[in-house]
Amino acid sequence: MTDINWTIEQPTLDANGIRLRPWRESDIDQVTAACQDAAIQRWTTVPVPYLRDHAVDFVESMAIEQWSDHSGALFCVASPDDRVLGSCGLVSVDAENLVAEVGYWVSAEARGAGVAQRSVKALAAWALGDGGMDRLEIYIEPANLASCRVAEQVGCVREGVLSSKALARGKRVDLVLYAMVP
Ligand SMILES: CC(C)(COP(=O)(O)OP(=O)(O)OC[C@H]1O[C@@H](n2cnc3c(N)ncnc32)[C@H](O)[C@@H]1OP(=O)(O)O)[C@@H](O)C(=O)NCCC(=O)NCCS
Repeated sequence: MTDINWTIEQPTLDANGIRLRPWRESDIDQVTAACQDAAIQRWTTVPVPYLRDHAVDFVESMAIEQWSDHSGALFCVASPDDRVLGSCGLVSVDAENLVAEVGYWVSAEARGAGVAQRSVKALAAWALGDGGMDRLEIYIEPANLASCRVAEQVGCVREGVLSSKALARGKRVDLVLYAMVP
């Protein structure tokens, strides 16, 4: 356990017409379908091939365990009629330094409507407020222009390019580091 003072129940966050809410069992099939998308598989760390069991583990174990041990805050981005539009959350929370990484994807059908920008803004407002973080980071491959645009539009500062920072699908890649502080 850490000194982070999160509520027992994961909150629901308003995101300007959409909501960030805890994951539910009824989301599993929508997550499985969304994660078949080539862009999600290319730019995020979801398992490939993405199986229903991965979504079961994500929703029923990872999201709940990470919230309770303060290692992550994984939210479902939901439409007003409660369909899954995407995923947005804190991953790799460094509780000692109060720094967390932000990760997100939006289902292919929901892209281009500001879903990612609204979600990251709402997540960041919570994370840098009640969530107790002092710094948020987003790591993005330079060719992922849509994601770089999201980071810029939500007010992150581009701090630089980290050479050969990660191994992505068996290849070493550079990552652009974006950061947000209160
Ligand atoms: C990146 C992603 C989350 C964006 O979701 P979204 O809901 O469509 O994003 P938004 O609509 O909030 O904003 C996207 C911005 O990128 C711009 N954009 C989209 N495609 C672009 C491209 N190929 N080149 C440059 N800009 C692009 C849009 O015009 C928009 O900017 P604007 O508001 O100035 O017009 C979505 O494309 C996705 O899920 N990609 C795969 C997973 C991923 O890359 N996750 C992030 C890993 S770091």
